[in-house]
Amino acid sequence: MFKRTLVTSALPYANGPVHIGHLAGVYIPADIYSRYLRLKGQEVLFVGGSDEHGVPVTIRARKEGITTQEVVDRYHTLIRDSFKEFGISFDVYSRTTSAIHHQFASDYFRKLYDEGKFIEQTTEQFFDPETQEFLTDRNIKGECPRCHAQGAYGDQCEKCGATLSPDELINPYNTVNGNPLTKKATSHWYLPLDQYQSWLENWILENHKEWRPNVYGQCKSWLDGGLKPRAVTRDLDWGIPVPVEGADGKVLYVWFDAPIGYISNTKELCDAQPDKYGKWETWWKDPETRLIHFIGKDNIVFHCIVFPSMLKADGSYILPDNVPSNEFLNLEGDKISTSRNWAVWLNEYLVDFPGKQDVLRYVLTANAPETKDNDFTWADFQARNNNELVAIYGNFVNRALVLTNKYFGGKVPTCHGLNEYDEATIAEFKDVQKNLEDLLDNFRFRDAQKEAMNLARIGNKYLADTEPWKLAKTDMERTATILNLALQIAANLSIAFEPFLPFSSAKLREMLHMPEVNWEHLGSTNLLEDGHELGQVSLLFEKMEDEVIQKQLDRLARIKAENEAKAKEEELKNWKPAEVKSDTNIDEFDKTDIRVATVLECTNVKKSERLLQFKLDDGIGGRTILSGIAQSYPDPSVLVGKQVLFIANFPPRKMMGIESQGMILSAVNADGKLVVTTVSAPVQNGAQVG
Ligand code: 2FM
Ligand code: ZN
Repeated sequence: MFKRTLVTSALPYANGPVHIGHLAGVYIPADIYSRYLRLKGQEVLFVGGSDEHGVPVTIRARKEGITTQEVVDRYHTLIRDSFKEFGISFDVYSRTTSAIHHQFASDYFRKLYDEGKFIEQTTEQFFDPETQEFLTDRNIKGECPRCHAQGAYGDQCEKCGATLSPDELINPYNTVNGNPLTKKATSHWYLPLDQYQSWLENWILENHKEWRPNVYGQCKSWLDGGLKPRAVTRDLDWGIPVPVEGADGKVLYVWFDAPIGYISNTKELCDAQPDKYGKWETWWKDPETRLIHFIGKDNIVFHCIVFPSMLKADGSYILPDNVPSNEFLNLEGDKISTSRNWAVWLNEYLVDFPGKQDVLRYVLTANAPETKDNDFTWADFQARNNNELVAIYGNFVNRALVLTNKYFGGKVPTCHGLNEYDEATIAEFKDVQKNLEDLLDNFRFRDAQKEAMNLARIGNKYLADTEPWKLAKTDMERTATILNLALQIAANLSIAFEPFLPFSSAKLREMLHMPEVNWEHLGSTNLLEDGHELGQVSLLFEKMEDEVIQKQLDRLARIKAENEAKAKEEELKNWKPAEVKSDTNIDEFDKTDIRVATVLECTNVKKSERLLQFKLDDGIGGRTILSGIAQSYPDPSVLVGKQVLFIANFPPRKMMGIESQGMILSAVNADGKLVVTTVSAPVQNGAQVG
């Protein structure tokens, strides 16, 4: 019933390079799918692009001290080039700052506005009185109401993972300047999702039960919770201006304009090459087009609920037929994080592993987080390369070609009749096309790649069992038959792996002198004619040595250490003494055990700019206390021998790997320096202050 397929992949924010999580979650599956459909001769358009609006890019610009435009220019180029290097076969990769997109998104909003599809609401939003700006989720930080970590974002706490709204934060402040925030009224346009609730329930819950359980489940839980109107505009100076009079200083919410980017990027391509791609409307409005969105799980609500409601509100668009969303990929057991540099960046991989794009493609698909979060480890990367790509696929192809060169001068030898074992081998892979299709049609890329690898296993086993190198001494006809079949399997491999490992497939076809790839030929044993001359042999894959992997592990270990040091510093920076309440009574004061001790040693803590480590004689066996006053004491040894006051009954806490058993009391001087408190005359160590 469908004539063509439109494949979209989430538009990555142009606020940093892309990493393995992006590739595994979205771009490789979308690419495999698009390549597969093209191979089958279907009409397909694969759309991508950079998401260049929104707060994340403005934050990066502030951090790097450059303009927002410079940020998106830099990362758009880097991301686009990385994708190209990894063979992600977009038909178009554009950007949401393009003039076409701005116009298109603006018109889209205006049409819905004119048709009364939005509601206007005034609400109180966080406002920085000094800079006179409203702040959105990511620009607001504060204490997490759940785990009480400092520095939680207005939309999420990175420490405990809680999804938050800025209103829930304790002591919210502006992330840029630390200013405390007030509330101020502002009006915005909202898409009344509640009005689409029953339509969505019917469309998804009744008619798309085939969606992946993670996608269906998330939609169900949003719908069960009852949808509420969602603001589609923001008070920001970066984005597409709201095309309504009097809306100065307001822009379209990034999640309103970004998915429209799929449409405007299609339009950009079709307008530029109408003969090749036809009209953009055919891709977006013809019910015979099948729309598939590839996304990560954090994007489900936007692609299954918000964007479809926007399309429905317009009324002239098709809706997604499926939204194959992946779960997340972790790195060595930890969540991938851009801000913590906990990632394998594609641009860096390309430098460290030149020409090995297919290895990463293979490993990421083999470990694709299709049904649950998965882990990328360098050990697994090495093992899959050495034990699967090299030992099975590469080894089989190499043996078939080298032996043909040796015994038959590099020409496909003639088959002199198959025996039972040959027939059994052929029977094992005759259904490979159907098996692959069943899996790929159901977005089961991981199992599909396994099926392709199984073909290489069959070939490898066939050569190992028949041992043509031994037979060549006695029976050239049998040797010819075996190598003919082995070469046919190798030719099949170049087709079967084409959607997954396009570079290796191309290389293999070059070795086989096989210009054509025809999906329909998969499973055939007549792909290479007798006497067909083969090309130059080279290795398809190379063994990965331990040193190369160790280098990557060392890099991650360094990053982990840096992150731990930073987190400790941050914790200390944000430590605030308990508020002194006016109703503090003498009993509460009594609970604080303040004592006197003599400083035995006082040194800087390694890798910390703020911490001093005190060794104290506290009269009861001695203790260690860390204090964040290093900047006030450039030469900490001046404190040795002094008697200081400290709180003895604070629970011990670890900082920079050292346990601190209390707190040294300091007073702030007029110049902002901290001065430790002491006694006016010597007293016995351990004496209580009260
Ligand atoms: O989560 C993200 O990275 C978003 N930039 C995805 C946008 S997808 C689409 F709507 F453009
Ligand atoms: Zn938290």
